[in-house]
Amino acid sequence: MDYIISKKSTNFSGTIKIPGDKSISHRALIIGSMSIGKSKITGLLESEDVFSTMTALKNLGVKIQHSSNSYIVEGLGIAGFKAPTEYIDLGNSGTGIRLLLGAIMGSNIIVNFKGDASLSKRPMQRVLKPLKLMGADILTSNKGKLPISIKSPKEALAIKYISKISSAQIKSAILLSGLSASGKTKYIEPIKSRDHTEKMLSKFGANISTKTLSNGSNLIELNGRPNLIGNDISVPSDPSSVAFPLVSAIIIPNSKIEIHNVMMNSTRNGIFETLQEMGAKIKIYNEKRVDSENTASIYAEHSRLSGIIVPSERSPRMIDEYPILSIAAACAKGNTIMNGVSELRVKESDRIKIVSDGLNKAGIKTIEKNDSLEVFGGEIEGNCTIDSELDHRIAMSFLILGLVAKNPIKVLRPSTIYTSFPNFFDIMLNLGAKLVRA
Ligand code: S3P
Repeated sequence: MDYIISKKSTNFSGTIKIPGDKSISHRALIIGSMSIGKSKITGLLESEDVFSTMTALKNLGVKIQHSSNSYIVEGLGIAGFKAPTEYIDLGNSGTGIRLLLGAIMGSNIIVNFKGDASLSKRPMQRVLKPLKLMGADILTSNKGKLPISIKSPKEALAIKYISKISSAQIKSAILLSGLSASGKTKYIEPIKSRDHTEKMLSKFGANISTKTLSNGSNLIELNGRPNLIGNDISVPSDPSSVAFPLVSAIIIPNSKIEIHNVMMNSTRNGIFETLQEMGAKIKIYNEKRVDSENTASIYAEHSRLSGIIVPSERSPRMIDEYPILSIAAACAKGNTIMNGVSELRVKESDRIKIVSDGLNKAGIKTIEKNDSLEVFGGEIEGNCTIDSELDHRIAMSFLILGLVAKNPIKVLRPSTIYTSFPNFFDIMLNLGAKLVRA
C-alpha cells in the first residue's frame, strides 16, 4: 500500500469495537514473562508493535502460545531472560524498546537492540542514563540512540530517580529494572503519567505504592525482588485508537458513533475532556471494572466545536492524542492553543512540525513554537499530499482531515497504521469513510 486518498464523507455512523490497548498489551506480555507460571492474555492488541515485543520476548527465551482468542505466556520469573543469539529488532515500537531495556536488568545477559528508521532517530538516553545508575553497561550505542548493545547486571541497584519528563516509558523501564534490585526503587515524575505498569505490577503481586507530593509531583516506590505470579489479563479497547473514529464522528456532518469496552483511566482520558470542553457531544456511560482498569461505553455525535486553550498540565494525560486533536481544532470556530507539547517532537516523528506543516498544506493556519501549537480553525481546502513519516498517528489524523476537506488528501506510506490499529481501514470504511487504497 503506497498511499491512500481520503475524500469528503457524510453520515459516518455505527457501533464499533476497537482493538486492545497498546500500552496494556506490551506490559501484559513483558510482566507475564517476568512472572512465575502462566499468564493468559485475552484481547491482546494484534498489531506490529505488540508483535515486535512478543518476538523480542521469544528471542529472550520466553514461550508464548496463541490459542483461539488468547495468548499464554510462560513466565521465566524476574531476572530470568536468556541471552538472545541475534539482534532484537523492535521495529517502530518506542514502548517495546524502552520497557525491554529495563526488563532485562538482572538477567546478566548481553542484548543487541535495533529498530526501524523512525525508532532509530528517537532518544534512548533518557532510559540509558538511569539504567547505567542501576548497573547496566552500555557497550555501544549510536550517540544514545539505536542500535544499542547493553550488558545487564546480575542484580540491579535500587535508586531514587527524579525525572524532569513525565514519561511512562522512562518510569516503566526503571520500575521493571527495580524488580531485580534487593532494595526499594523510588521514582519521581513532575506530573503523573500513565500508570498501567504500577497497576499491573500490583496485580501480579509486587509491593508498589504511589503518592502525590506537596509540589504536585508523583512518587512511586517499589520493593525489589517480589514474587510475581502469572495472572489472567483482559485487555480493554485502546482509548488512543478510539480517538480517531470518535473525532471523525464529531467533525463529519450527520454522524453518530457508539464504542463499547473503552479503557477509562484518569491518566489517559484527557482527550475526552478536551473535546467536551470544545463543545463535542460525548456521553460516557456504563463504567465497569475490568481487571486492574476501568472501562466504559462512549457515544458521540456531530458537534459544533470552538477553539480552547489546552493547559500544559494535561499533556501527559493525552500525549498521543494531539495529532487528532489538531484535526478537530482545524474544524473548530476560532483558535486552539495546545501548550506543553514539546515531547511530541520526539515521538514516532516530530509531531508538532509534521502536523503544523500538513495543516498549512491543507489550507489551515498554525503557529508552531517549541512547546506549543496553535491551530486556527477554518476552511479546509485539502488537495495536498502528506507523508506519514512512518508515524501511524500522523497517517490516521490526515486521512481523517481528508474526510472533511473540500478536496481529497493523499497520505503516503499509510501501512504504518498497522503498528497500532490493524483494522483501522475496515472500521473506517464500514462507518462510511471514503478512503481509497492504492
Ligand atoms: C507509552 C507512553 C508514552 C506514549 C506511548 C506509549 C507507554 O510515551 O507516547 O505511545 O505505553 O508507556 P512517553 O512515555 O515517552 O511519553
